[in-house]
Amino acid sequence: MRMYDIIAKKRDGGTLDRAEIAFAINGYVAGDVPDYQMSALLMAIYLRGMTDEETAVLTDVMAHSGEMVDLSAIAGIKADKHSTGGVGDKTTLVVAPIVAACGVKIAKMSGRGLGHTGGTIDKMEAVPGTRTSLTQDEFFRQVNEIGIAVIGQSGQIAVADKKLYALRDVTATVGCIPLIASSIMSKKLASGSDAILLDVTMGDGAFMKNLPDAIELARLMVSIGTAHGRKVAALITDMDKPLGHNIGNALEVAESIAVLKGRGPDDLTEVCLQLASNMLVLAGKGDLTSCRAMAERALTDGTAYLKCRQMFAAQGGDVACLDNPDQLRKAKYCYDLVAQGEGYIAKNDVEKIGNASVLLGAGRIKKEDTIDFAAGIIMRHKLGDYVRSGDVICTMFADDPALFQPAEEMYRGGLILSADKPTLPPLVYARVTADGIEQF
Ligand code: URA
Repeated sequence: MRMYDIIAKKRDGGTLDRAEIAFAINGYVAGDVPDYQMSALLMAIYLRGMTDEETAVLTDVMAHSGEMVDLSAIAGIKADKHSTGGVGDKTTLVVAPIVAACGVKIAKMSGRGLGHTGGTIDKMEAVPGTRTSLTQDEFFRQVNEIGIAVIGQSGQIAVADKKLYALRDVTATVGCIPLIASSIMSKKLASGSDAILLDVTMGDGAFMKNLPDAIELARLMVSIGTAHGRKVAALITDMDKPLGHNIGNALEVAESIAVLKGRGPDDLTEVCLQLASNMLVLAGKGDLTSCRAMAERALTDGTAYLKCRQMFAAQGGDVACLDNPDQLRKAKYCYDLVAQGEGYIAKNDVEKIGNASVLLGAGRIKKEDTIDFAAGIIMRHKLGDYVRSGDVICTMFADDPALFQPAEEMYRGGLILSADKPTLPPLVYARVTADGIEQF
Protein backbone atom coordinates (compact mmCIF):
# COMPACT_ATOMS: atom_id res chain seq x y z
CA MET A 1 0.00 0.00 0.00
CA ARG A 2 1.26 3.52 -0.77
CA MET A 3 0.29 6.78 0.92
CA TYR A 4 0.36 8.40 -2.54
CA ASP A 5 -2.55 6.20 -3.71
CA ILE A 6 -4.57 6.85 -0.54
CA ILE A 7 -4.19 10.61 -1.02
CA ALA A 8 -5.12 10.35 -4.71
CA LYS A 9 -8.19 8.22 -3.92
CA LYS A 10 -9.54 10.77 -1.44
CA ARG A 11 -8.58 13.68 -3.71
CA ASP A 12 -10.77 12.12 -6.41
CA GLY A 13 -13.71 11.68 -4.04
CA GLY A 14 -13.24 7.99 -3.25
CA THR A 15 -14.12 6.20 -0.02
CA LEU A 16 -11.22 4.89 2.07
CA ASP A 17 -11.46 1.47 3.66
CA ARG A 18 -10.23 0.43 7.13
CA ALA A 19 -6.89 -0.86 5.83
CA GLU A 20 -6.15 2.42 4.05
CA ILE A 21 -7.16 4.60 7.02
CA ALA A 22 -5.12 2.44 9.42
CA PHE A 23 -2.12 2.53 7.05
CA ALA A 24 -2.19 6.35 6.95
CA ILE A 25 -2.85 7.00 10.66
CA ASN A 26 -0.63 4.30 12.15
CA GLY A 27 2.09 5.16 9.65
CA TYR A 28 1.89 8.82 10.65
CA VAL A 29 2.12 8.00 14.37
CA ALA A 30 5.08 5.70 13.71
CA GLY A 31 6.86 8.43 11.73
CA ASP A 32 6.75 6.45 8.45
CA VAL A 33 4.30 8.87 6.83
CA PRO A 34 5.77 12.40 6.62
CA ASP A 35 3.92 15.60 7.52
CA TYR A 36 3.63 16.66 3.86
CA GLN A 37 1.75 13.53 2.87
CA MET A 38 -0.53 13.63 5.93
CA SER A 39 -1.19 17.34 5.23
CA ALA A 40 -2.25 16.45 1.68
CA LEU A 41 -4.58 13.74 2.96
CA LEU A 42 -6.10 16.07 5.57
CA MET A 43 -6.76 18.69 2.91
CA ALA A 44 -8.32 16.07 0.61
CA ILE A 45 -10.58 15.00 3.51
CA TYR A 46 -11.37 18.66 4.24
CA LEU A 47 -12.44 19.24 0.63
CA ARG A 48 -14.06 15.87 -0.15
CA GLY A 49 -15.49 14.93 3.26
CA MET A 50 -15.89 11.43 4.65
CA THR A 51 -18.80 9.04 4.85
CA ASP A 52 -20.13 8.21 8.33
CA GLU A 53 -18.52 4.78 8.02
CA GLU A 54 -15.11 6.27 7.14
CA THR A 55 -15.38 8.72 10.07
CA ALA A 56 -16.28 5.89 12.46
CA VAL A 57 -13.27 3.86 11.29
CA LEU A 58 -10.97 6.88 11.52
CA THR A 59 -12.20 7.49 15.10
CA ASP A 60 -11.62 3.85 16.05
CA VAL A 61 -8.10 3.79 14.60
CA MET A 62 -7.25 7.10 16.34
CA ALA A 63 -8.67 5.90 19.68
CA HIS A 64 -6.57 2.73 19.48
CA SER A 65 -3.41 4.68 18.61
CA GLY A 66 -2.83 5.16 22.36
CA GLU A 67 -3.98 3.84 25.71
CA MET A 68 -7.61 2.68 25.99
CA VAL A 69 -8.35 3.50 29.64
CA ASP A 70 -10.16 0.69 31.47
CA LEU A 71 -12.33 2.21 34.20
CA SER A 72 -13.75 -1.14 35.35
CA ALA A 73 -11.84 -0.82 38.66
CA ILE A 74 -14.32 1.97 39.46
CA ALA A 75 -17.70 0.63 40.51
CA GLY A 76 -20.88 1.89 38.82
CA ILE A 77 -21.65 3.96 35.75
CA LYS A 78 -19.00 6.52 34.83
CA ALA A 79 -20.16 9.69 33.06
CA ASP A 80 -18.17 12.22 31.07
CA LYS A 81 -18.92 15.48 29.29
CA HIS A 82 -17.11 17.34 26.56
CA SER A 83 -17.53 20.84 25.23
CA THR A 84 -16.40 21.65 21.71
CA GLY A 85 -15.01 24.86 23.17
CA GLY A 86 -16.00 28.33 24.11
CA VAL A 87 -15.25 31.54 25.96
CA GLY A 88 -16.26 31.77 29.61
CA ASP A 89 -17.27 28.10 29.34
CA LYS A 90 -16.83 26.94 32.92
CA THR A 91 -19.64 24.38 32.91
CA THR A 92 -17.48 21.36 33.84
CA LEU A 93 -16.63 22.92 37.22
CA VAL A 94 -20.36 23.04 37.98
CA VAL A 95 -21.83 20.09 36.10
CA ALA A 96 -19.33 17.42 37.22
CA PRO A 97 -19.95 18.06 40.96
CA ILE A 98 -23.75 18.17 40.43
CA VAL A 99 -23.70 14.80 38.65
CA ALA A 100 -21.33 13.27 41.23
CA ALA A 101 -23.54 14.59 44.06
CA CYS A 102 -26.42 12.69 42.41
CA GLY A 103 -24.47 9.41 42.68
CA VAL A 104 -22.92 9.06 39.20
CA LYS A 105 -19.15 8.61 39.06
CA ILE A 106 -17.06 11.22 37.27
CA ALA A 107 -13.61 10.00 36.23
CA LYS A 108 -12.80 12.81 33.88
CA MET A 109 -9.84 13.94 31.86
CA SER A 110 -9.97 17.55 30.69
CA GLY A 111 -7.88 19.84 28.55
CA ARG A 112 -6.09 23.17 28.81
CA GLY A 113 -7.04 26.36 27.02
CA LEU A 114 -5.56 27.17 23.63
CA GLY A 115 -6.21 30.23 21.48
CA HIS A 116 -9.32 32.17 22.42
CA THR A 117 -10.96 29.28 24.31
CA GLY A 118 -10.33 28.27 27.93
CA GLY A 119 -9.75 24.84 29.47
CA THR A 120 -10.92 23.24 32.71
CA ILE A 121 -7.46 22.18 33.88
CA ASP A 122 -6.14 25.76 33.82
CA LYS A 123 -9.18 26.90 35.78
CA MET A 124 -8.66 24.18 38.40
CA GLU A 125 -5.02 25.17 38.79
CA ALA A 126 -6.15 28.72 39.61
CA VAL A 127 -7.07 27.24 43.01
CA PRO A 128 -3.64 27.15 44.70
CA GLY A 129 -2.21 23.71 45.38
CA THR A 130 -4.56 21.79 43.07
CA ARG A 131 -2.91 18.75 41.48
CA THR A 132 -4.30 17.96 38.05
CA SER A 133 -1.93 15.09 37.43
CA LEU A 134 -2.64 11.96 39.49
CA THR A 135 -1.28 8.44 39.13
CA GLN A 136 -3.82 5.93 37.84
CA ASP A 137 -4.09 4.39 41.34
CA GLU A 138 -4.73 7.81 42.91
CA PHE A 139 -7.27 8.63 40.22
CA PHE A 140 -9.22 5.38 40.64
CA ARG A 141 -9.03 5.54 44.47
CA GLN A 142 -10.34 9.12 44.53
CA VAL A 143 -13.27 8.31 42.23
CA ASN A 144 -14.14 5.19 44.25
CA GLU A 145 -13.93 7.11 47.55
CA ILE A 146 -15.61 10.42 46.73
CA GLY A 147 -17.17 9.82 43.31
CA ILE A 148 -15.26 12.44 41.34
CA ALA A 149 -11.81 13.32 39.99
CA VAL A 150 -10.94 15.69 37.16
CA ILE A 151 -7.38 15.49 35.86
CA GLY A 152 -5.35 16.57 32.83
CA GLN A 153 -5.50 14.32 29.84
CA SER A 154 -2.77 11.68 29.82
CA GLY A 155 -0.25 12.07 27.00
CA GLN A 156 -0.97 8.45 26.08
CA ILE A 157 -4.64 9.02 25.11
CA ALA A 158 -5.38 9.03 21.36
CA VAL A 159 -1.75 9.70 20.45
CA ALA A 160 -2.68 10.12 16.77
CA ASP A 161 -5.02 12.99 17.62
CA LYS A 162 -2.28 14.96 19.33
CA LYS A 163 -0.06 14.76 16.25
CA LEU A 164 -2.88 15.27 13.78
CA TYR A 165 -4.39 18.22 15.66
CA ALA A 166 -1.04 20.04 15.66
CA LEU A 167 -0.80 19.48 11.90
CA ARG A 168 -4.42 20.54 11.27
CA ASP A 169 -3.78 23.70 13.25
CA VAL A 170 -1.10 24.85 10.77
CA THR A 171 -2.65 23.52 7.55
CA ALA A 172 -6.08 25.20 7.76
CA THR A 173 -7.84 21.85 8.22
CA VAL A 174 -9.33 22.23 11.72
CA GLY A 175 -12.84 23.29 10.69
CA CYS A 176 -13.94 20.02 9.09
CA ILE A 177 -16.82 18.05 10.65
CA PRO A 178 -15.46 14.47 10.16
CA LEU A 179 -12.03 15.55 11.45
CA ILE A 180 -13.52 17.33 14.50
CA ALA A 181 -15.86 14.40 15.25
CA SER A 182 -13.06 11.82 15.04
CA SER A 183 -10.70 14.01 17.09
CA ILE A 184 -13.18 14.47 19.93
CA MET A 185 -14.69 10.99 19.93
CA SER A 186 -11.32 9.19 19.74
CA LYS A 187 -10.36 10.87 23.03
CA LYS A 188 -13.76 10.26 24.63
CA LEU A 189 -13.84 6.57 23.65
CA ALA A 190 -10.26 6.07 24.86
CA SER A 191 -11.04 7.78 28.19
CA GLY A 192 -13.36 4.91 29.08
CA SER A 193 -16.63 6.44 30.39
CA ASP A 194 -19.95 4.64 29.80
CA ALA A 195 -22.08 7.78 29.35
CA ILE A 196 -20.87 10.80 27.39
CA LEU A 197 -22.67 14.11 27.07
CA LEU A 198 -21.41 16.38 24.30
CA ASP A 199 -21.85 20.13 24.55
CA VAL A 200 -21.64 21.30 20.93
CA THR A 201 -21.24 25.05 21.08
CA MET A 202 -22.55 27.19 18.23
CA GLY A 203 -21.97 30.83 17.39
CA ASP A 204 -19.23 33.31 16.56
CA GLY A 205 -17.04 32.02 19.42
CA ALA A 206 -17.33 28.36 18.40
CA PHE A 207 -16.11 26.03 15.65
CA MET A 208 -19.70 25.56 14.47
CA LYS A 209 -21.17 28.83 13.22
CA ASN A 210 -24.65 27.65 12.23
CA LEU A 211 -27.29 25.18 13.40
CA PRO A 212 -27.19 22.69 10.48
CA ASP A 213 -23.41 22.24 10.94
CA ALA A 214 -23.73 21.95 14.72
CA ILE A 215 -26.48 19.35 14.37
CA GLU A 216 -24.45 17.42 11.79
CA LEU A 217 -21.40 17.35 14.10
CA ALA A 218 -23.57 16.30 17.05
CA ARG A 219 -25.36 13.59 15.04
CA LEU A 220 -22.07 12.16 13.80
CA MET A 221 -20.46 12.07 17.26
CA VAL A 222 -23.57 10.53 18.85
CA SER A 223 -23.69 7.84 16.17
CA ILE A 224 -19.97 7.02 16.56
CA GLY A 225 -20.27 6.73 20.36
CA THR A 226 -23.47 4.70 20.19
CA ALA A 227 -21.87 2.29 17.69
CA HIS A 228 -19.12 1.75 20.28
CA GLY A 229 -21.66 0.76 22.92
CA ARG A 230 -21.60 4.05 24.86
CA LYS A 231 -24.63 6.11 25.90
CA VAL A 232 -24.15 9.41 24.09
CA ALA A 233 -26.22 12.56 23.61
CA ALA A 234 -25.45 16.14 22.62
CA LEU A 235 -26.85 19.54 23.44
CA ILE A 236 -26.28 22.36 20.96
CA THR A 237 -25.62 25.41 23.15
CA ASP A 238 -25.20 29.06 22.27
CA MET A 239 -21.76 30.67 21.95
CA ASP A 240 -22.86 34.02 20.49
CA LYS A 241 -22.20 35.36 23.98
CA PRO A 242 -20.03 33.96 26.74
CA LEU A 243 -21.76 32.07 29.55
CA GLY A 244 -22.01 34.10 32.73
CA HIS A 245 -19.99 37.29 33.15
CA ASN A 246 -16.46 36.19 34.01
CA ILE A 247 -13.67 35.22 31.62
CA GLY A 248 -10.26 34.20 32.94
CA ASN A 249 -9.25 31.36 35.20
CA ALA A 250 -9.63 32.54 38.81
CA LEU A 251 -12.59 34.73 37.80
CA GLU A 252 -14.33 31.71 36.27
CA VAL A 253 -13.68 29.57 39.35
CA ALA A 254 -15.32 32.28 41.46
CA GLU A 255 -18.36 32.37 39.17
CA SER A 256 -18.67 28.56 39.12
CA ILE A 257 -18.58 28.48 42.90
CA ALA A 258 -21.33 31.13 42.94
CA VAL A 259 -23.49 28.81 40.78
CA LEU A 260 -22.77 25.87 43.08
CA LYS A 261 -23.84 28.03 46.02
CA GLY A 262 -27.08 28.98 44.23
CA ARG A 263 -26.00 32.58 43.55
CA GLY A 264 -24.69 32.34 39.99
CA PRO A 265 -25.91 34.09 36.84
CA ASP A 266 -29.13 32.70 35.37
CA ASP A 267 -27.75 31.75 31.93
CA LEU A 268 -24.82 29.77 33.31
CA THR A 269 -26.98 28.10 35.96
CA GLU A 270 -29.60 27.08 33.40
CA VAL A 271 -27.12 25.60 30.91
CA CYS A 272 -25.35 23.71 33.71
CA LEU A 273 -28.67 22.27 34.93
CA GLN A 274 -29.59 21.15 31.42
CA LEU A 275 -26.18 19.54 30.88
CA ALA A 276 -26.26 17.84 34.28
CA SER A 277 -29.84 16.54 33.82
CA ASN A 278 -28.95 15.06 30.44
CA MET A 279 -25.85 13.38 31.89
CA LEU A 280 -27.99 11.87 34.64
CA VAL A 281 -30.46 10.56 32.04
CA LEU A 282 -27.61 8.93 30.09
CA ALA A 283 -26.33 7.38 33.33
CA GLY A 284 -29.74 5.76 33.85
CA LYS A 285 -30.90 7.91 36.77
CA GLY A 286 -34.41 8.47 35.35
CA ASP A 287 -36.27 10.55 32.80
CA LEU A 288 -35.39 14.16 32.00
CA THR A 289 -37.95 15.64 34.40
CA SER A 290 -36.83 13.63 37.42
CA CYS A 291 -33.14 14.13 36.57
CA ARG A 292 -33.69 17.89 36.31
CA ALA A 293 -35.31 17.88 39.76
CA MET A 294 -32.38 15.83 41.11
CA ALA A 295 -29.83 18.27 39.65
CA GLU A 296 -31.70 21.31 41.02
CA ARG A 297 -31.84 19.69 44.46
CA ALA A 298 -28.07 19.10 44.44
CA LEU A 299 -27.60 22.85 43.91
CA THR A 300 -30.15 24.03 46.46
CA ASP A 301 -29.24 21.59 49.25
CA GLY A 302 -25.52 22.37 48.90
CA THR A 303 -24.42 18.80 48.10
CA ALA A 304 -23.00 19.77 44.70
CA TYR A 305 -20.87 22.50 46.31
CA LEU A 306 -19.67 20.04 48.96
CA LYS A 307 -18.76 17.54 46.23
CA CYS A 308 -16.73 20.20 44.44
CA ARG A 309 -15.01 21.11 47.72
CA GLN A 310 -14.25 17.44 48.40
CA MET A 311 -12.73 17.04 44.94
CA PHE A 312 -10.43 20.06 45.32
CA ALA A 313 -9.45 18.97 48.85
CA ALA A 314 -8.60 15.46 47.60
CA GLN A 315 -6.43 16.99 44.84
CA GLY A 316 -4.58 19.31 47.25
CA GLY A 317 -6.46 22.53 46.43
CA ASP A 318 -6.83 25.30 49.00
CA VAL A 319 -10.54 25.00 49.76
CA ALA A 320 -10.50 28.27 51.74
CA CYS A 321 -10.49 29.87 48.24
CA LEU A 322 -13.73 28.06 47.43
CA ASP A 323 -15.38 28.96 50.71
CA ASN A 324 -14.36 32.55 50.10
CA PRO A 325 -13.42 33.18 46.43
CA ASP A 326 -12.12 36.64 47.43
CA GLN A 327 -9.04 34.72 48.55
CA LEU A 328 -8.26 33.66 44.95
CA ARG A 329 -5.32 35.62 43.53
CA LYS A 330 -6.26 39.07 42.30
CA ALA A 331 -4.66 41.04 39.47
CA LYS A 332 -2.65 44.13 40.41
CA TYR A 333 -4.57 46.44 38.07
CA CYS A 334 -8.06 46.80 36.70
CA TYR A 335 -9.46 48.95 33.92
CA ASP A 336 -13.05 49.86 33.00
CA LEU A 337 -13.88 49.84 29.30
CA VAL A 338 -16.75 52.31 28.83
CA ALA A 339 -19.39 52.78 26.15
CA GLN A 340 -18.52 55.55 23.67
CA GLY A 341 -22.10 55.93 22.51
CA GLU A 342 -25.62 54.86 23.28
CA GLY A 343 -27.66 51.86 22.14
CA TYR A 344 -28.24 48.15 22.42
CA ILE A 345 -25.21 45.89 22.30
CA ALA A 346 -26.09 44.32 18.96
CA LYS A 347 -22.82 42.41 18.53
CA ASN A 348 -20.08 41.49 20.99
CA ASP A 349 -17.85 39.09 19.09
CA VAL A 350 -17.06 36.18 21.38
CA GLU A 351 -13.79 35.24 19.71
CA LYS A 352 -12.60 38.82 20.17
CA ILE A 353 -13.65 38.78 23.84
CA GLY A 354 -11.66 35.55 24.25
CA ASN A 355 -8.67 37.04 22.44
CA ALA A 356 -8.83 40.20 24.59
CA SER A 357 -8.67 37.99 27.64
CA VAL A 358 -5.66 36.13 26.17
CA LEU A 359 -3.94 39.49 25.57
CA LEU A 360 -4.43 40.30 29.26
CA GLY A 361 -2.55 37.10 30.12
CA ALA A 362 -5.45 34.72 30.83
CA GLY A 363 -4.72 32.32 27.96
CA ARG A 364 -2.04 31.02 25.67
CA ILE A 365 -1.28 31.64 22.03
CA LYS A 366 1.26 28.79 21.98
CA LYS A 367 1.10 25.60 24.06
CA GLU A 368 4.28 26.56 25.97
CA ASP A 369 2.99 30.02 27.09
CA THR A 370 2.43 30.54 30.80
CA ILE A 371 -0.84 32.03 31.96
CA ASP A 372 -1.76 34.54 34.63
CA PHE A 373 -4.58 32.98 36.67
CA ALA A 374 -5.81 36.35 37.93
CA ALA A 375 -6.07 38.02 34.50
CA GLY A 376 -9.34 38.31 32.65
CA ILE A 377 -12.56 40.22 32.09
CA ILE A 378 -15.82 40.73 33.95
CA MET A 379 -18.58 41.63 31.51
CA ARG A 380 -20.88 44.23 33.06
CA HIS A 381 -23.13 44.41 29.99
CA LYS A 382 -23.69 41.69 27.40
CA LEU A 383 -25.33 41.20 24.01
CA GLY A 384 -28.82 42.73 24.03
CA ASP A 385 -28.21 45.14 26.96
CA TYR A 386 -28.85 48.87 26.52
CA VAL A 387 -25.89 51.11 27.40
CA ARG A 388 -25.41 54.87 27.61
CA SER A 389 -22.20 56.78 26.92
CA GLY A 390 -19.82 56.27 29.85
CA ASP A 391 -21.46 53.06 31.12
CA VAL A 392 -18.91 50.40 32.01
CA ILE A 393 -19.21 47.59 29.46
CA CYS A 394 -16.56 45.41 31.05
CA THR A 395 -13.74 45.52 33.58
CA MET A 396 -10.35 44.13 32.58
CA PHE A 397 -7.80 42.67 35.01
CA ALA A 398 -4.04 42.31 34.46
CA ASP A 399 -0.71 42.52 36.28
CA ASP A 400 0.71 44.90 33.67
CA PRO A 401 -1.30 48.05 32.85
CA ALA A 402 0.31 48.21 29.37
CA LEU A 403 -1.83 45.20 28.41
CA PHE A 404 -5.10 47.13 28.68
CA GLN A 405 -4.74 49.11 25.45
CA PRO A 406 -4.33 46.15 23.04
CA ALA A 407 -7.01 44.20 24.93
CA GLU A 408 -9.40 47.16 24.71
CA GLU A 409 -8.77 47.51 20.97
CA MET A 410 -9.47 43.82 20.50
CA TYR A 411 -12.68 43.98 22.56
CA ARG A 412 -13.97 47.14 20.87
CA GLY A 413 -13.21 45.62 17.45
CA GLY A 414 -16.07 43.18 17.99
CA LEU A 415 -18.51 45.56 19.65
CA ILE A 416 -21.44 47.13 17.79
CA LEU A 417 -24.09 49.37 19.38
CA SER A 418 -27.41 49.79 17.60
CA ALA A 419 -30.70 51.61 18.10
CA ASP A 420 -32.47 48.29 17.38
CA LYS A 421 -32.76 45.67 20.06
CA PRO A 422 -31.20 42.46 18.74
CA THR A 423 -33.04 39.15 18.91
CA LEU A 424 -31.30 37.08 21.53
CA PRO A 425 -30.35 33.50 20.70
CA PRO A 426 -31.71 30.70 22.90
CA LEU A 427 -29.32 29.14 25.45
CA VAL A 428 -29.87 25.65 24.04
CA TYR A 429 -30.86 25.15 20.39
CA ALA A 430 -31.29 21.41 20.16
CA ARG A 431 -30.80 18.01 21.74
CA VAL A 432 -29.41 15.16 19.68
CA THR A 433 -29.70 11.58 20.91
CA ALA A 434 -29.46 8.13 19.35
CA ASP A 435 -33.26 8.39 18.90
CA GLY A 436 -33.29 11.64 16.94
CA ILE A 437 -33.05 15.44 16.99
CA GLU A 438 -35.24 17.75 19.06
CA GLN A 439 -35.02 21.45 18.21
CA PHE A 440 -36.15 24.02 20.80
N1 URA B 1 -11.78 19.90 19.87
C1 URA B 1 -11.05 18.78 19.64
O1 URA B 1 -10.68 18.07 20.56
N2 URA B 1 -10.75 18.49 18.36
C2 URA B 1 -11.14 19.24 17.32
O2 URA B 1 -10.85 18.89 16.19
C3 URA B 1 -11.90 20.39 17.58
C4 URA B 1 -12.22 20.69 18.88
